[in-house]
Amino acid sequence: MTGIGSGLGYAFVEYFLKQEYEVYALSRHLKDEFKGKIHFQHCDLLAIETVYPSTQKLLQNVKKLDVVILNAGLLTPLKDIHDTPIYEMEQMMDVNVWANKIILDCIIDMKIEVPEIIAISSGASVNGNRGWHGYSISKAALNMLVKLYSREMKNTHIIALAPGLIITPMLEQFVLSADENKFPSVQRIKNAPKMTPEEAVQNIMNKMNKLKNIPSGSYVDIRNL
Ligand SMILES: NC(=O)c1ccc[n+]([C@@H]2O[C@H](COP(=O)([O-])OP(=O)(O)OC[C@H]3O[C@@H](n4cnc5c(N)ncnc54)[C@H](OP(=O)(O)O)[C@@H]3O)[C@@H](O)[C@H]2O)c1
Repeated sequence: MTGIGSGLGYAFVEYFLKQEYEVYALSRHLKDEFKGKIHFQHCDLLAIETVYPSTQKLLQNVKKLDVVILNAGLLTPLKDIHDTPIYEMEQMMDVNVWANKIILDCIIDMKIEVPEIIAISSGASVNGNRGWHGYSISKAALNMLVKLYSREMKNTHIIALAPGLIITPMLEQFVLSADENKFPSVQRIKNAPKMTPEEAVQNIMNKMNKLKNIPSGSYVDIRNL
């Protein structure tokens, strides 16, 4: 798992611990309740040069991972792309795309067996709504990254998954508080049904069999399953 400090990633760890999985996590924050219960390696995915050695350290004794969830994601406040500096877009590319490339490269180099990889994408990867700037671009790139790795990882099923709308710090801080007149998607999101992180995890796990039947390399929005 990447990104377990809050939101969906936190709820995934809770779920997997309840199921008595052994959890390996790369993240900036380790909550007290997980201390001593999971294998944790501190990693700021923005410090891109640290991602490979951190992954290597975390997984040094691992031969197989049942599932890898590339969950960590960065969204900065909604604004027009015209007003979005390249350095801010680069940060989203680093966390949402390149960190995942490095982690996948490390897993391949270490010859770790991984039957299932889920990269958490977003409806924003295909919607192109006003205000979603480098986040949309980075999630679209993530979808393509997943497709490209699927061509090479013949023994792995890998998909990019839009998890639906989840009430998390990301949604609350950067989407629900944004200008709904300027950015019409904000109004739509406010009116749409939303899940708690725990519900979102349960929804993904309930649909796991369907997800496994989707061709490797695909982008899928869970709301369409
Ligand atoms: N919420 C939604 O409605 C929604 C919809 C579509 C897609 N998503 C996607 O779902 C995923 C989880 O997001 P969320 O909604 O749960 O938001 P969130 O609560 O803000 O969580 C973001 C996660 O990413 C990790 N992260 C962010 N920057 C990082 C960095 N520099 N280094 C390491 N980890 C970093 C954080 O972990 P640490 O703080 O421990 O580093 C945190 O666990 C993201 O990929 C997001 O794009 C969410």
